[in-house]
Amino acid sequence: MAQEPSTRVLPHELPASLREAGLDHWIREPLDDAVDRRRRIIMPPAAAMTGTPARDYQGALLAEAKHDDTVFMMGDNPELPKMPERPTLRDFYLLRFGPIPRMHLLQSARVARENGLDEKVIMACLLHDIAIAGLLSANHGCWGAQLVAPYVDEEVAWAIEKHEALRYFPDESVGYSYPAAYIDYFGPDYHPPDYIRREAEAARRHRWYMTSRLVTINDIYSFDPGVTVDFDDFEDVVGRHFRQPAEGLGFDGSPVAHMWRTMIWPNNFL
Ligand SMILES: [Fe+2]
Ligand SMILES: [Fe+2]
Repeated sequence: MAQEPSTRVLPHELPASLREAGLDHWIREPLDDAVDRRRRIIMPPAAAMTGTPARDYQGALLAEAKHDDTVFMMGDNPELPKMPERPTLRDFYLLRFGPIPRMHLLQSARVARENGLDEKVIMACLLHDIAIAGLLSANHGCWGAQLVAPYVDEEVAWAIEKHEALRYFPDESVGYSYPAAYIDYFGPDYHPPDYIRREAEAARRHRWYMTSRLVTINDIYSFDPGVTVDFDDFEDVVGRHFRQPAEGLGFDGSPVAHMWRTMIWPNNFL
């Protein structure tokens, strides 16, 4: 859906320092009729820049905005599909989430359904990594649980929050082993920090433990390339277990509306 960059000659070039840093492609977009023929700068958020060389270029990006034909990105980014005025959960899956996290969520929910699990568990599987898909990866269980809390059963939000810590700890009594993928991701010598360990221990004593544990058991890391799963396959489950606000996600005045708006306009400067 990404719009072809305009071939119109740019009135002035990107400063060499930004070009050399390789920031020309992902920080900015070329001049484009759709945005009043202005260049628009995308400033990466602190959470993405901190700890990377990109932070050293914040000043250079700020300086670019001094040009008359250049502003910071605000509102719709033409590189992204336009979201409807009243976005639903489905719109975020189809118009904002990348193909890999989207397929991860859909295949996990599909496996949960094939295993004959309760619809609450299927719903939790469908949502469990929603923060990774659209917002932030670090602490994704907590971000994800907060995102959906106003719209799902409390047990579903709890299961999403706790799956993050429970993922690290085997429970052989229900056939859950430490994920092989985590050895690739973190190395064989990785040990989760104490706060994660404490969180998992507390979750294990909770009455909803098994709901969250089932999310981890159905958390599928290897895609089945032969299987395509559509969001609409879960229309019934979503209809029964996700309270879609009439005003649209992001515009219902809920305490988490800003998080959904951040996914609608992820490149806004402020
Ligand atoms: Fe996860
Ligand atoms: Fe996952």
